[in-house]
Amino acid sequence: MANTFTYIEKKLFTPGPLGCSKPVKEAMLFDLGSRDTQFINVIKEIRQSLLEITGASPDEYTAILLQGSGTYSVEAALQMCVPRPGGRLLIVSNGAYGKRMKTICDTAEIPADLLDFPEDGAFDVKKVEKFISESQHVYSAVSAVHLETSSGVINPATELGKVLMQLQKRPLFILDGMSSIGGVSFTLDNPASPDVLVTSANKCLQSVPGCAIIIARRAVFEQCKGNCRSLSLDLCSQLDGLDTCGQFRFTPPTHCLLALHRALGELKSEGGVSARVKRYRENCQTLQHGMEQLGFQKLVKLPEHESHIITSYLCPKHPNFAFDTFYSRLSNKGQVIYPGKVTNADSFRIGNIGDLHPKDLQHLVSCIKAVLTDMGVPLPVRY
Ligand SMILES: Cc1ncc(COP(=O)(O)O)c(C=O)c1O
Repeated sequence: MANTFTYIEKKLFTPGPLGCSKPVKEAMLFDLGSRDTQFINVIKEIRQSLLEITGASPDEYTAILLQGSGTYSVEAALQMCVPRPGGRLLIVSNGAYGKRMKTICDTAEIPADLLDFPEDGAFDVKKVEKFISESQHVYSAVSAVHLETSSGVINPATELGKVLMQLQKRPLFILDGMSSIGGVSFTLDNPASPDVLVTSANKCLQSVPGCAIIIARRAVFEQCKGNCRSLSLDLCSQLDGLDTCGQFRFTPPTHCLLALHRALGELKSEGGVSARVKRYRENCQTLQHGMEQLGFQKLVKLPEHESHIITSYLCPKHPNFAFDTFYSRLSNKGQVIYPGKVTNADSFRIGNIGDLHPKDLQHLVSCIKAVLTDMGVPLPVRY
């Protein structure tokens, strides 16, 4: 029986999956053989572009692709960087994705400590330094999230790298750059840069979901052989496959990689990361200006802790406001926002990444105004 479900195209103001351009989706209309030269060249160019985007020297760093969503790259990196036995990880966390790293470690029985900071601000590097210096443990690796997508907070990754570099026994620095790479200025061009940076095809690189990305110093792979407790997530073996024959070890997401190839080309044509940062900033300013006029308050209070990628708003305290109704009425108008993910506040999130432009954010704000009026929530909203 034919599938009669009709899809309705909507604008996604989410942190992923997000709206991709038509050419990126059209790039998937080809069936390529996974062992064919055409496809091997696609993989090669993607890996080169990823190093260019992050300003990483090919002599020092390499880029690896892995089947799966962003969590697969985080798990693969944590598995690789903590030796067995005897290794220990410190997770610097201020939100859901930091906590997920701890869940990954607990599941894989990787010894790990969580140094937890409040969700509505950046982590404090001085406190991290103090914690490490007073700890009874010597950490093999330290991990952190660059941009906590659960709140929109941007963390001082470069400062953390500098602190780790000065330690007597330097731990490996793993950074989750899932929602920052491609949309925030950040480069792997100095000794304090992360040893392992993970990201996803499906955030600021504006491709479809299905491919996890790991960019790491080549020396790390030498140092970490045999650490991984999983066959399919073993990055050292994945790199061996990519380096020796340019191929994935197991069935690659061919269509997804074609889309990523096209999306990286689009990033270049847009003017590179700096141009994308500019557009995302404009999107964010348009959104925040409109939401402020409607009376909405942000979760993150200090502007220096805020990113221009996603904004968390506190839910208004009016008896007529219910997030589920707000969400579904906006969705009926073709505007998809995202629920909150912080534990200590009733909030929702609006992302401005993907194929979005200031006029889209302007339209979203006008839809929010119309929906609140329909719901009988007086404007400006009150708390
Ligand atoms: C910072 C961060 N880390 C990890 C993840 C997990 O990625 P995924 O849901 O693609 O597995 C996300 C997803 O939004 C994220 O924003």
